[in-house]
Amino acid sequence: MFTQFRTFFLYTLLLSVTKGNTDDFVNPMDRKLLGMEEKLSHLRFYWHDILSGRNPSSVTVIPPPLNSTTVFGLVNVVDNPLTLGPRLSSKLVGKAQGLYASTSHSEVDFMMAMSFGFSEGKYNGSSITVLGRDPIFNKVRELPVIGGSGLFRFARGYAHLTTISFSPKTKDAVVEYNVYVLHF
Ligand SMILES: *[C@@H]1O[C@H](CO)[C@@H](O)[C@H](O)[C@H]1NC(C)=O
Ligand SMILES: *[C@@H]1O[C@H](CO)[C@@H](O)[C@H](O)[C@H]1NC(C)=O
Repeated sequence: MFTQFRTFFLYTLLLSVTKGNTDDFVNPMDRKLLGMEEKLSHLRFYWHDILSGRNPSSVTVIPPPLNSTTVFGLVNVVDNPLTLGPRLSSKLVGKAQGLYASTSHSEVDFMMAMSFGFSEGKYNGSSITVLGRDPIFNKVRELPVIGGSGLFRFARGYAHLTTISFSPKTKDAVVEYNVYVLHF
């Protein structure tokens, strides 16, 4: 039965090769060939959104175009430090690069689109990308992890966000990120 199946398989393979199928550019692969084994990791770091001072890590590229209490339409571009502890002076583990935009008329809700580029230890050069909605006044928010690179290839999972501090005057904020990610 198995031999028969194999003969049939080889025959179809041969046929598809000789016929030059247009979908030949996609091939099934044995994941063991890449030494791939799926892992689950929990990352915890602190995201510093610094708008004040001479070297802000977060800049408003589009101010809110309307007189809106939810700053609807605002767009900020960020290159925010990610640290091991909640203080900015604690060890830097990477940077969050991307942007956020206020996308709600009814609450302060930011659409976040960022890649976390890590710079520490064996994770130096690897990254995780998140995309999703962040209603910033909720105690805990959840962002989907939509991908990754390097040691985080094929990443999927989620991030839980909790605001540690926010200054209404400067708009500076520190947010704790707990990221749960499946990757290879
Ligand atoms: C903005 O809206 C508030 C009330 O929502 C109003 O008091 C204020 O005058 C408005 N400002 C401008 C510049 O339209
Ligand atoms: C991370 O990698 C970059 C480029 O490969 C290197 O310049 C840098 O020193 C590394 N950082 C750490 C903390 O190992």
